[in-house]
Amino acid sequence: MKRIALLGATGSIGKNCLDVIRRLRSQFRVVTMTTNNNTEILAEQAEEFRPTLCAVMDPHKVDDLQDRLSERKIQIRTGPEGLLEAATHPDTDLVVNALVGAVGLIPTIRAIEAGKDVALANKESLVMAGEFIMNLAQEKKVQIIPVDSEHSGIMQCLHGNRREDVARIILTASGGPFFNRRAEEFQSITPQQALEHPTWNMGPKITVDSATLMNKGLEVIEAHWLFGVPISHIEVTIHKQSIIHSLVEFTDGSILAQIGPTDMRLPIQIALTFPERMESPYPRVRFEQTRMLTFEKPDHEKFPCLRLAYKAAQDGGTTPAVLNAANEIAVQAFLENRISFEKIPSLIEETTTRHVRADRPSLNEILTADRWARGYVMKQLP
Ligand SMILES: NC(=O)c1ccc[n+]([C@@H]2O[C@H](COP(=O)([O-])OP(=O)(O)OC[C@H]3O[C@@H](n4cnc5c(N)ncnc54)[C@H](OP(=O)(O)O)[C@@H]3O)[C@@H](O)[C@H]2O)c1
Repeated sequence: MKRIALLGATGSIGKNCLDVIRRLRSQFRVVTMTTNNNTEILAEQAEEFRPTLCAVMDPHKVDDLQDRLSERKIQIRTGPEGLLEAATHPDTDLVVNALVGAVGLIPTIRAIEAGKDVALANKESLVMAGEFIMNLAQEKKVQIIPVDSEHSGIMQCLHGNRREDVARIILTASGGPFFNRRAEEFQSITPQQALEHPTWNMGPKITVDSATLMNKGLEVIEAHWLFGVPISHIEVTIHKQSIIHSLVEFTDGSILAQIGPTDMRLPIQIALTFPERMESPYPRVRFEQTRMLTFEKPDHEKFPCLRLAYKAAQDGGTTPAVLNAANEIAVQAFLENRISFEKIPSLIEETTTRHVRADRPSLNEILTADRWARGYVMKQLP
């Protein structure tokens, strides 16, 4: 039986992860679960999965969680220490990091330091500190298993193949809801429109990132660190049907693609069971019902976030962490109706341009750059 720490249990990935575990109860036990402030859902989940420890980040919600679970012998924790206790609990084997944003970085690092394998949905960890994390994982001999469907696809294509035989990684992108909208109309895009993703049902931050194509930019950086492939060998293609989750081209010209339904439970299950496979009841791809598979080049002028992410990745050092932090603050401001959709990339560009990069940064330098970028963007907000 694999013992799981589930960070971000109340989010989109967290709930899907519990759905997978619900069907594979004899294989997995959830030992720790966390939320930011959603104590109502966390308490319901804890009633069902009976973890040893629950952590709520927001200290104002800890009494509420305690009250809701007063009948149960579940340890309750709060604040960053509570989150880290959940991430490093001695009775766990695999940490599923389903937190959103930079808050996921330190739990990823602490989990690796504690010798845990990590099923990583929190791509921001690798964007901020990919080199640091991958070196640490190697040192501690732990696995970082991707949860993102694209990276799960690449991992499956690479399985049994040699890394030195990889010529190119092709990440597929749905294109988001505005792929066909004219650039002149971007000014009027509302948060509500940006939150309506055509193929995936996800948390608000990644949904907006998908609409700006920043999500794909973050995934390029994630793939670079996970698979050790140079940025210049990682391409993006717009594939609206989201059936091919990514492709790997080898030096002999052969291309492997991973195909599956648009259902995150499948890559989550693969991350939990990898390298083994288990049966699943999830929808199957029926090619007869898929009239065509299309592939288009992304427009880097209309979607500057993708261009900015490539540039930050090429610049390296602390720049990707700054890109990530600026994006988090800008997306939040857009969701709060404080800035327009178009302002997201321009704020990020201004911030990454102003940043004085540190090369081969320490964790401290990365966190300092993250803080600086957040402060800088906040000062530019109306
Ligand atoms: N959703 C997808 O289909 C999908 C696909 C691929 C990759 N990913 C990646 O997976 C990660 C999670 O995405 P998501 O869509 O599941 O996000 P989400 O629905 O917003 O859930 C985020 C989770 O993190 C918790 N959280 C948020 N801020 C926190 C904080 N400051 N401290 C502690 N906990 C915090 C949330 O708690 P509350 O419930 O209390 O807010 C929630 O449990 C992201 O990195 C995303 O890019 C997601």
